[in-house]
Amino acid sequence: MINFGLIGCGRISDSHFKAVETIESAEITCCCDIDISKAEEKKEKYGIKSVYSDYKKMLGSEKLDAVIICTPSGLHSEVGIAAASKKLHVITEKPMAIDLESADTLIQACDKNKVKLFVVKQNRLNTTMQLLKKALEKNRFGKIYLVQSNVFWQRPQSYYDQAKWRGTWEFDGGAFMNQASHYVDALYWLIGPVDHVMAETATMARKIETEDTGSAILKFRNGVIGTINVTLLTYPKNYEGSITILGEKGTVKIGGIAVNKIEKWEFEDYDDDDRIVTESNYQPPNIYGFGHLPYYINVVDSLTGKKAPDIDGRDGRKSLEIILAIYLSAKQGKKIALPLK
Ligand SMILES: NC(=O)c1ccc[n+]([C@@H]2O[C@H](COP(=O)([O-])OP(=O)(O)OC[C@H]3O[C@@H](n4cnc5c(N)ncnc54)[C@H](O)[C@@H]3O)[C@@H](O)[C@H]2O)c1
Repeated sequence: MINFGLIGCGRISDSHFKAVETIESAEITCCCDIDISKAEEKKEKYGIKSVYSDYKKMLGSEKLDAVIICTPSGLHSEVGIAAASKKLHVITEKPMAIDLESADTLIQACDKNKVKLFVVKQNRLNTTMQLLKKALEKNRFGKIYLVQSNVFWQRPQSYYDQAKWRGTWEFDGGAFMNQASHYVDALYWLIGPVDHVMAETATMARKIETEDTGSAILKFRNGVIGTINVTLLTYPKNYEGSITILGEKGTVKIGGIAVNKIEKWEFEDYDDDDRIVTESNYQPPNIYGFGHLPYYINVVDSLTGKKAPDIDGRDGRKSLEIILAIYLSAKQGKKIALPLK
């Protein structure tokens, strides 16, 4: 049995509680939130054994194998380092940190304590995305020319007003760092390392420090040109979360509100995968999708020595670096080359 402790009982924590609940060989035995009423609520809902308001107390008192971090993003590294120093494996929500120094310190702390670090990027596990990845691995597109991602969602001012950390540089980051980070990750995962970026960002309508809108051009090392357009001001609600790949012998668009629907799938050559395109589409209950369960299956398999982690700290760091390059480009008004350091 793998025992998890969960820290940060807010919006996304339900996806973790629900996923772990369905895995027989794993259990969330305790949870923590600085607002103890939130931890109590999860205790009731999911039958959690004990609750805490101080995560350090929880780490010192409970017999755990791993810790799940669902706190504001700016705290992931600090909490992860505390868990690693207790020899606990770390599963952190995305982004793993909001600056490279914190990400590197977390990776090093996990290495030093010989524990595993997992970064949650559940979108990679969507059936639609898995099918697209397979088509790329089979080289069905031939030479890829252009890739585009659109994240046209709506976050009203009330979303930011719900919690002080949202929309701050210290704990959150903006539309690229928070909402679009899965899409930046997908572009990296599907197309490869980025050579340089050029970007514009703006805070057009929300009263926040960070951007609510932005566009970036990514030039990949393999020559592909990519663009990503993000706004959280889409009227009147979430409209599209998509990735389009245009190649010599194929065109694919995965769209829907959160890459849940294959809208275009056309290749020069037939492949048996073409027959399962329609059944890969699904209706997610929300934009977070269904990926947390397959993600945890890999976590548990890795912790029991059956598999390697799907997405570890070093992999999670890649999209963080691209996002930070986007911010730097927008701030300095120039092309930014990767790696950043
Ligand atoms: N994978 C995804 O698709 C996805 C979706 C949403 C959010 N997230 C990520 O999950 C994280 C949390 O987002 P959310 O929307 O659930 O936020 P939230 O504000 O709803 O929840 C965060 C919780 O952490 C608690 N908290 C703050 N400081 C704490 C501390 N020191 N110790 C214990 N608890 C503390 C808060 O009281 C709050 O309940 C963010 O990093 C976000 O980027 C990921």
